[in-house]
Amino acid sequence: MNVYDDTIVQPMSIVLGDGIEGLLNDGGKPDLVVLDLPWGATKHATDKPIDLAALFDALEFVMRGEGTVLAFCQHPYTVQMINAKPDWLRRMLVWDKRRPTGHLDVQYQELRVHADMLVMSPDGMPYYKPERAPDANVKERKGYAGNASQVYGNAKGSQFDGSNLRWPKSIYSVPVDAAERGVHPFRKPLKLMRQLVRQYCPPGGYVIDPTCGSGATLEACMLEGRPFAGFEIDKPTYEIAVYRLNALYRAICAKKEAGDAAGD
Ligand SMILES: C[S@@+](CC[C@H](N)C(=O)[O-])C[C@H]1O[C@@H](n2cnc3c(N)ncnc32)[C@H](O)[C@@H]1O
Repeated sequence: MNVYDDTIVQPMSIVLGDGIEGLLNDGGKPDLVVLDLPWGATKHATDKPIDLAALFDALEFVMRGEGTVLAFCQHPYTVQMINAKPDWLRRMLVWDKRRPTGHLDVQYQELRVHADMLVMSPDGMPYYKPERAPDANVKERKGYAGNASQVYGNAKGSQFDGSNLRWPKSIYSVPVDAAERGVHPFRKPLKLMRQLVRQYCPPGGYVIDPTCGSGATLEACMLEGRPFAGFEIDKPTYEIAVYRLNALYRAICAKKEAGDAAGD
C-alpha cells in the first residue's frame, strides 16, 4: 500500500524566509496567490509591513498574466492594496468574522466584525467555480432569479431548482475559529480557506501564500488537493506551521491507510 499516491498532492512546501524572495525563487507559476499580509497595524512582533510595490512586481513576474490573487485586507490598508495595482482589481468581498473586535475603542468607533477580501487578476476574469450551499432560512421555490429586464437585457437568470441551495454572496460569513485562537493571532478559519481554495483555484492548481503564518491556506490546500508553497519569515511561526502541516499529513495518510485496509 502506497500512501504517497495521487490522492495526496505534491509538491507541498513551506520555507522559512522572505515571501517576495520566495515567490521569485520558487520557479512555479501559481494559479492562486493568497495574500494575508502584515500591515504593521498592531504591536505584534511579526506585524511588520511589506513593500507592496516589490510584492506586485514579483507577482507580475511569476504569474505571467494569468491566475488569481485573493487578498485579505482591512481599511485603510485596503486602499493601499488597491492602489498598488488598481487595474488588477476585479471585485471586493467581505469576510464576516461573526465575532467583533476592538472593544477598547467602542467609544470612538464601531466594533470591527469584518475584513475585506480583494479578488485580483492580471488579465480578465479570474477562475471562479461557485459552490451552492443550503440556506436554512430560505424557502424552497421555483422560477428564474433574473428574467429579462431593462437592467440585464434579455439574459435569463439562473433557474431555481426547487432546492434551498443558494449561490455564494459577496459576504462570506464564517466565524473565527475559537479553538484555533492560540495558534496565530491572525489565523484564518480553515473552513473559509477551504471554500476559497476550491472556488478560486482549479483542481490540481498551484497555490502560493508568500506570508503563510500558521499555514491555514496550506492546510486548506492539502485537504483540497492543491499543490502549494508557503513562506514565513518568523521562525517560531514557521515551526508551528510545519508542525501542523506534518500532523495533518499524518492524519490524512492514517485515514487513507484505514480506508484502504477496510477496502482490501
Ligand atoms: C497576517 S499573518 C498570516 C496569517 C495566516 N494567514 C494564518 O492563517 O495563520 C502574516 C504573516 O506574515 C509573516 N511575515 C511578515 N513579513 C514577512 C515576509 N517578508 N515574508 C514572509 N512572511 C512574512 C508574519 O510573520 C505573519 O506570520
